[in-house]
Amino acid sequence: MSALSTKHLLGIKDLQKDDILRIFDTADEFKGVLNRPIKKVPSLRDITIANLFFENSTRTRLSFELAAKRLSADVINFSASTSSVKKGETLIDTTKNILAMKVDMVVMRHSSPGAPHFLSRHIPAVVVNAGDGTHEHPTQALLDAFSIRAKLGHDLEGVRVAIIGDIWHSRVALSNIFALKKLGAEVMVCGPPTLIPTYISSLGVKVEYKLEHALNWCDVANVLRIQLERQDSSVQDIPSLREYAQFYGISKKILDSLAKPVVLMHPGPINRGVELTSDAADSKHAIILEQVENGVAIRMAVLYLLATDLNQH
Ligand code: CP
Repeated sequence: MSALSTKHLLGIKDLQKDDILRIFDTADEFKGVLNRPIKKVPSLRDITIANLFFENSTRTRLSFELAAKRLSADVINFSASTSSVKKGETLIDTTKNILAMKVDMVVMRHSSPGAPHFLSRHIPAVVVNAGDGTHEHPTQALLDAFSIRAKLGHDLEGVRVAIIGDIWHSRVALSNIFALKKLGAEVMVCGPPTLIPTYISSLGVKVEYKLEHALNWCDVANVLRIQLERQDSSVQDIPSLREYAQFYGISKKILDSLAKPVVLMHPGPINRGVELTSDAADSKHAIILEQVENGVAIRMAVLYLLATDLNQH
């Protein structure tokens, strides 16, 4: 039996609250390991993990690689841009060839929503979703919620989190909503109407179009970038980045003017000068680098807990 209620981590939607709390408890242990002079444990010594990245990444790919190495797993890295995918090889063929090299776990990022789910139905390895198009980015949501808990020093019950920016094209928004709601937080989304899908209120979140109202309401602001690469070029969702920055850009001056302190988060990469000014991103309000640091412990926890099954064979 896996230590979680699922064999794969495909989305937060599939997790129980207890799974999330178990991941947090395990990540707390691994955070202790990461702060020791010797930052490595032998937990996954006989496990081989393939990081399959069909879409660009800095944080997630490095974080998964480091997490696997800290657990003593063998790691292979695949990047679509330098692979035979460029010669027309399919996702299934690519993956089956990699699995023929006796791989136990696959961490996959892909631009198509549902790609890791598809893969999990066709291969015997454990699959971890590292971001599938506009759908889910489960480990980002886990590290975000874990970082809020660490910053506030208590659980998320009743904590008000505003997710601000391009909700429409964001897998981080959807996974965050699922995770935060399961943990008892209150969630608001804020952005221009053209970047907020109409179905979103059916997920039990508040919708706000004015940045000032959202910032005055929340304890935590998780700010997302405008995902120009996912927007339909024939339809303009916003008049310009400059106008977006004027209405939704967050500066240190705005944060300092609020009646109560707000914790500022961003999953990265930041578009400085658009959704955040540099003085906000680098201010004492921001926990952006703590999120990155916590990401390694969270990913160690996810890999470790999902590998429980594999270790028993
Ligand atoms: N937050 C995040 O997913 O960043 P990368 O795209 O750099 O992995």
